[in-house]
Amino acid sequence: MTSSKMNSGEVTRQTIGAWRQVPANRPVRAVLVGCGGMSAEWLRAAAQVEGLEVVGLVDLNEDAARARQAEFGLTQAQTGTDLGRVLADTSPDLVFDCTVPEAHFQTALTAFEQGIGVLGEKPLADNMAHARQMIQVGQSSAQFHAVIQNRRFDPNIRRVERFVRSGRLGELTTLNADFYVGAHFGGFRDTMEHVLLLDMAIHTFDSARLISGQDPVSVYCHEWNPKGSWYAHGANAVAIFEMTGGVVFTYRGSWAAEGARTTWESDWRVVGTAGSVVWDGGDHPTSSLVRETTGLLSDFTEAELPPANPQDRVGGHRGLIEEAVSSLRSGQPAETAAVDNVRSLAMVFAAIESAESGRKVLVD
Ligand SMILES: NC(=O)c1ccc[n+]([C@@H]2O[C@H](COP(=O)([O-])OP(=O)(O)OC[C@H]3O[C@@H](n4cnc5c(N)ncnc54)[C@H](O)[C@@H]3O)[C@@H](O)[C@H]2O)c1
Repeated sequence: MTSSKMNSGEVTRQTIGAWRQVPANRPVRAVLVGCGGMSAEWLRAAAQVEGLEVVGLVDLNEDAARARQAEFGLTQAQTGTDLGRVLADTSPDLVFDCTVPEAHFQTALTAFEQGIGVLGEKPLADNMAHARQMIQVGQSSAQFHAVIQNRRFDPNIRRVERFVRSGRLGELTTLNADFYVGAHFGGFRDTMEHVLLLDMAIHTFDSARLISGQDPVSVYCHEWNPKGSWYAHGANAVAIFEMTGGVVFTYRGSWAAEGARTTWESDWRVVGTAGSVVWDGGDHPTSSLVRETTGLLSDFTEAELPPANPQDRVGGHRGLIEEAVSSLRSGQPAETAAVDNVRSLAMVFAAIESAESGRKVLVD
């Protein structure tokens, strides 16, 4: 089956290729590049993963790398400003890419050139051409290549996903997600174009693929920067996606809405022919299933969704890093392999194209 014919999330050994597996008798060795805000989360998570050693820390500003080295007691790790040099000196198995989105492309190519795999922060790339080229080079050199899409590795979205898959909602028809978080970050986001769509909506779009098990077909998106926004561009967006199985997914989002905050996971309504699930991103997703219909309105059975399953892949960044370590040892692909995750990225860029053109756009 070619990757374009696969269903959402179906990543097989054949679609990925085979990387050099790391033997069980030594740790997986990683170099982290980009020692800014998110790197602390990665290093905290990495410290909890068995059989993993961070052997290098790289940043354009070496003081940032040294600061993380001191903070996490990584005295044995080499620091530097030149990723290629540190990779050549330390011969790791994996690069942890925590750089800004514009640097993900070059970081991945530098790693692949030296025969090293990449686990990178979202978004996979800063444009679709870069994403395709990264995937092509990663595959042709048979390297591990996956993306941190940490909101998948959440026990509650796994409960929603499993409930939908169980068929108890009947046939899925509609997904709605609302994201309203007035976030005052400062830094690169303040001046970034399409800041909400590119930097945040990728999480929600990817969650929609996970919950529905469907891929995007088309999108109409309206993007704007509301009055009072502290961003330079695109803090608000509304998008309507049609999905492969006929589901319609609507997204309403804002990074400049003060008050009545939703969770970072978004506020969800999932509608099927037999009822609905509502999930506010927290610990209590609930279903409302039709019991009988005798009059104007049906009668419903309301219940919290079944609890998380011990086999579920959870744990946010830690869970994804553990999965990467295990993939490097077993040769099995990661759930968020770049070849699959690019479909979530395609939703973002199609939404941006629609917002810029004012037209409905087919998702590539
Ligand atoms: N998964 C999540 O929930 C989540 C949350 C926040 C940010 N992120 C993502 O994490 C990534 C980093 O975000 P951040 O908030 O840490 O940014 P940041 O600006 O705080 O840190 C980025 C660091 O990368 C360094 N850098 C940039 N280009 C480099 C290069 N070519 N080589 C080496 N170092 C380079 C910068 O000097 C800086 O120290 C982004 O892709 C962002 O979208 C993910």
